[in-house]
Amino acid sequence: MIDGDIKFIRQLFDTSEGILRDIENYANENFVPIVKPEVARFLETVVKIKHPKNILEVGTAIGYSSIIMLKAYEKTRVLTIEKDIDRAEIAKRNFTEASLIDRVELVKGDAIEVLPCLNNKYDLIFIDASKGHYREFFDECLRVLNDGGILICDNILYKGHVANDVRVKHKRRTIVYRMRDFISYILNKKELVTTIIPIGDGLSISVKEEKDD
Ligand SMILES: C[S@@+](CC[C@H](N)C(=O)[O-])C[C@H]1O[C@@H](n2cnc3c(N)ncnc32)[C@H](O)[C@@H]1O
Repeated sequence: MIDGDIKFIRQLFDTSEGILRDIENYANENFVPIVKPEVARFLETVVKIKHPKNILEVGTAIGYSSIIMLKAYEKTRVLTIEKDIDRAEIAKRNFTEASLIDRVELVKGDAIEVLPCLNNKYDLIFIDASKGHYREFFDECLRVLNDGGILICDNILYKGHVANDVRVKHKRRTIVYRMRDFISYILNKKELVTTIIPIGDGLSISVKEEKDD
């Protein structure tokens, strides 16, 4: 997507109020990364279409995307994992303030250790954490994704560097190569249908095929 388009779209979606606006302001002032407005709207749309009974999120930060998804469907529940204790505490306060705490399980810990311990299955999974570990997150998330479930990953185009043909700068090389490998890995998973959407920092969305009985 070209810059003019994205600016235009962001402006249209810049309509939050109340707690969501407060969290956006806090994130802005304190350099906390949260989903871009068009990604927030995308998540909201997917939840409204899918009506997931339960959602798993890797990377809570201060609770913004969880709140977007919880507000989109009043019957859904979210299990969200955050390894930064200070951010997790702020997320907890935000869930309480938004009167959504009853529908959230906030796990403070490293998703690399937490994900293998999960036994429940999820209808929707959102991965939005450290890019270097996407492959590990993805495999574990696929294990706990219901048939017919949806798995979304944010940041897969890494500010355009992943898709850009120009020589990759040394400091970004490892992450860019890893992300390229990751993209071809998920596109080749035979139980998934996956596409890539160039909004935000690049999203992938995969659907796990329903098994025939
Ligand atoms: C981009 S932010 C998440 C933003 C959030 N999804 C939102 O839009 O409101 C990524 C978060 O993932 C957390 N994180 C990174 N690696 C993690 C890991 N291995 N386990 C758990 N959390 C992790 C970071 O501390 C950070 O707060």
